[in-house]
Amino acid sequence: MTTNLFLEAANGRKTERTPVWLMRQAGRILPEYRKVRESAGDFKTLVKTPELATEVTIQPVDILGVDAAIIFSDILVIPEAMGLDYEMEENRGPVFPKKISSEKELSQIHVAEAAELQYVIDAIKLTKKELNGRVPLIGFAGAPWTIFSYMIEGRGSKTFSQAKKVLYNQPKFAHQLLDMITQSTIHYLKAQIAAGADLIQIFDSWAGILSPEQYREFSLKYIAKICDAIPEAPKTVFAKGAFFARKEMDSLHCQVVGLDWNMDIKESRALLPNKVLQGNLDPCALYGSRDDVKRETKKMLDAFGPTRHIANLGHGLYPDTAVDNVKCFIDTVKNYRFVD
Ligand code: CP3
Repeated sequence: MTTNLFLEAANGRKTERTPVWLMRQAGRILPEYRKVRESAGDFKTLVKTPELATEVTIQPVDILGVDAAIIFSDILVIPEAMGLDYEMEENRGPVFPKKISSEKELSQIHVAEAAELQYVIDAIKLTKKELNGRVPLIGFAGAPWTIFSYMIEGRGSKTFSQAKKVLYNQPKFAHQLLDMITQSTIHYLKAQIAAGADLIQIFDSWAGILSPEQYREFSLKYIAKICDAIPEAPKTVFAKGAFFARKEMDSLHCQVVGLDWNMDIKESRALLPNKVLQGNLDPCALYGSRDDVKRETKKMLDAFGPTRHIANLGHGLYPDTAVDNVKCFIDTVKNYRFVD
């Protein structure tokens, strides 16, 4: 059995079966994760201690049997390295004590160098060593627009109206900040690959709140810059809610495009003929019975077909998902074979 099923599929090659991993596979669904998280004391200590980050990165490989590991970290390490510290509040999510709101405040932040994220680089090196070639390792970063949203808003939001307000009222400042985030992200991702990350995923979690025109100007342009600057490894772009941008995403210099569950699979194939597709089961489908999970998973596999697909959910796992149902999803993919 090849250990590179995931990378083979990401590069568009035919594989003996569809590879599978899950967004947020390292996390609260696993009691083993919660134990390590408790021993660390808090989320940021876990992220900043390479031995612990490595342990929770490998847990889903051992426990769930996924075909790829994703380095345990967060997209918010970039704003922190740029000078905006974040706190991860229990049951509330990230909060930034200091945010940024105008051009004159740009002097308070800087373009991050990879050395400022050495703890992630060390965690990647240690994880690669411990994985010892069992499965590939995915590195990641947030898309500039999603990072920008947190830096302006200072916390999570349903609308990110403050971040969008800046696009309307201070477009010049928006581009300056997006450019600084983009440069920081390029430094960071290049270092992740140099440390051993086999593929890079860019998460644009808040893509879906922009109009198609705004998305082109304030997000896709910067994602394209990142993809163009990093030819050294395959890349996946996952833009949650950006159904309207699929056609344009086919021209990005990335190999894989992630789909959420709102995006029709057949329609996505037609709009993205040059990409491998990743996704896209609704994470809520895992709340069903095992039979439901099997049926929905097979339906998804059939719609994507035998090649150019990496099985995943349409967004991250929800923390209250039953581990057995997650295993059922993974095993259904791993046992499924297309008849020639
Ligand atoms: O397993 C993996 O996917 C790898 C680790 C990973 C985490 N965050 C760990 C984490 C990854 C890839 C992320 C990405 C991330 N972080 C995104 C993009 C993906 C997405 O879900 O859209 C975003 C928007 C964030 C920001 C963030 N981090 C939020 C909003 C929250 C709180 C809400 C939540 O989902 O838990 C986090 C915390 C976080 N990041 C946790 C984990 C495991 C939970 C923290 C805990 O242990 O309590």
